[in-house]
Amino acid sequence: MIVAIDGGVASGKSAVGRRVAEALGLPFVDSGLMYRAITRIAAERGIDPRDSEAITRLARTTDLKLDGERVWADGVELTHGIYDADHAEALPLIAANPGVREALVAQQRRMGGTGVVMAGRDIGTVVFPDADHKFFLVASLDEKVRRRAAQYERRGERVDEEAMRKEVAERDRVDTQRAVAPLRPAQDAIVIDTDHLDVEQVLDVILKHIAERSQAKTK
Ligand code: DC
Repeated sequence: MIVAIDGGVASGKSAVGRRVAEALGLPFVDSGLMYRAITRIAAERGIDPRDSEAITRLARTTDLKLDGERVWADGVELTHGIYDADHAEALPLIAANPGVREALVAQQRRMGGTGVVMAGRDIGTVVFPDADHKFFLVASLDEKVRRRAAQYERRGERVDEEAMRKEVAERDRVDTQRAVAPLRPAQDAIVIDTDHLDVEQVLDVILKHIAERSQAKTK
């Protein structure tokens, strides 16, 4: 079974996806970690995020491994600080690079194997257009900033809410407007407004839909 969970920044797709995977006994893949890993390595090696060819070469030749929230590139663990906002500018540029997307989508399809819950921006539209179940999570900008700020506070980090609001809005804008694999719900995705729901409640909604559709199929 393949379950696609897409959504913008801080829509809750990773937290919810992890729980859906646990409930269904499937592996979970947070595809955003792969774009983050490539962005981090490019910065470490001094590769300009606008140098499309060099970035594509990097994505094609880097072997990424994921396990929950952990990520390795060519055997070296990059988990620490992978969610930090350090590369907020480079990240959407690299994610909009068609060569990078082609390389990472190929890896994602291999990781999917025969069953997976995968979270991202284009899982239901590009990576697995034939996924058994597709969900698209949305939340208002206020709620996204509130969630992101709570995440930082839990890690004991200082929060500049105004800067955070700008960053979240800008990343969603760039991801939505890019030419390749823009952030949008697949035609057959179920859109869930998560503003007034916690992770458990979104999990319930998703599991109910999956159970209903699976029953309808076997009838
Ligand atoms: O989900 P996230 O915030 O960790 O994703 C990081 C970046 O990667 C985000 O700016 C968009 C990009 N991304 C993407 O373009 N396609 C995906 N399937 C997952 C993430």
